[in-house]
Amino acid sequence: MEAIILVGGFGTRLRPLTHTVPKPLLPLANIPMVERMIRNLPEVFDTAILAVNYGLKDMKEYFKGRDVGKKVVLVPEDEPLGTGGAMRNCIDYVTGTTAVFNGDIVSSIDLNKMLEQHIRTKAKGTLALWKVADPNRFGVVEFKNGEILQFQEKPEKGTELSNLINAGTYLLEPEILEMIPPKQKISIEREIYPKVAGEGLHGFPFEGYFIDAGTPESYLEANFKSIGNNGTAAHTGANIRGSVMIHENAKLEHCIIGPKAIIGPNVKLEKCIIRNSVILSDVNGYGSVVEESIIGPNIKFEEDVNRSLISPKGQITF
Ligand code: GTP
Repeated sequence: MEAIILVGGFGTRLRPLTHTVPKPLLPLANIPMVERMIRNLPEVFDTAILAVNYGLKDMKEYFKGRDVGKKVVLVPEDEPLGTGGAMRNCIDYVTGTTAVFNGDIVSSIDLNKMLEQHIRTKAKGTLALWKVADPNRFGVVEFKNGEILQFQEKPEKGTELSNLINAGTYLLEPEILEMIPPKQKISIEREIYPKVAGEGLHGFPFEGYFIDAGTPESYLEANFKSIGNNGTAAHTGANIRGSVMIHENAKLEHCIIGPKAIIGPNVKLEKCIIRNSVILSDVNGYGSVVEESIIGPNIKFEEDVNRSLISPKGQITF
């Protein structure tokens, strides 16, 4: 069984980081987010199909000869085809019921349960649904007796049909992929789902957590969630506070790390306090307090940093 992962977006909200590293290869707790997604796929999925546009060269290089537990196929687009067009572009690699993921979602969805429901209800498509207090920035659904009856993309405040939103995780029968016109830029959310709503489109509400890791704040949150139970309890040269992850080859001297901090590979820090922050690979830091920031890769810092996203292409404050 195949899972398509949409990884072709520009990642504009994470610039300048995504000028040098495509969003799918940005790490969550030291593992690239797309690799994490592939490794977390249930056993029934043997193939991950990556729909790629921006960052193709880097992605090819990353996956060349690398074992990530599943067969990986990269399907490039000459032009960005949008979410629907990108899925349609993968149709030749699909053999039946297919899972589709937005590549930047970190969630507690139980895919096995979702698949069991999808098969039991004989749905054409099943969309994972997440409840929010303020749904107007998202794709909202009218949901009744397990079925999605209407679809609203980013509705005006006060006109929302419910507070259940599309969580960017789908199980689709091939007939839905076949509805998408080939080689065209198509949004599945705006142009295809509204046509199938009320005619075999089901919903799978879930609880737990749901993070779209596409903004600096949510990228930090997704990182801390991804530490899970695999945190670092002790490290030479660092006083550890709370939940943190430190790469085994990071070199630390007289540092306080945490609460909530991730230190990447080939990082050297001396006399630093790192809280609520992610330090990416190959960073050198001295004598600084770093809070709520994302730093790297390949950056040197020697002054205090707060709520900043610093990459080789510059710095923004968020
Ligand atoms: P922003 O530019 O910051 O909004 O990020 P993004 O480019 O990732 O866009 P967005 O978060 O809306 O995209 C949702 C998902 O669809 C992400 O996983 C994207 O990688 C993916 N995606 C969006 N557009 C395309 C596309 O044209 N082709 C492919 N293959 N994937 C896409």
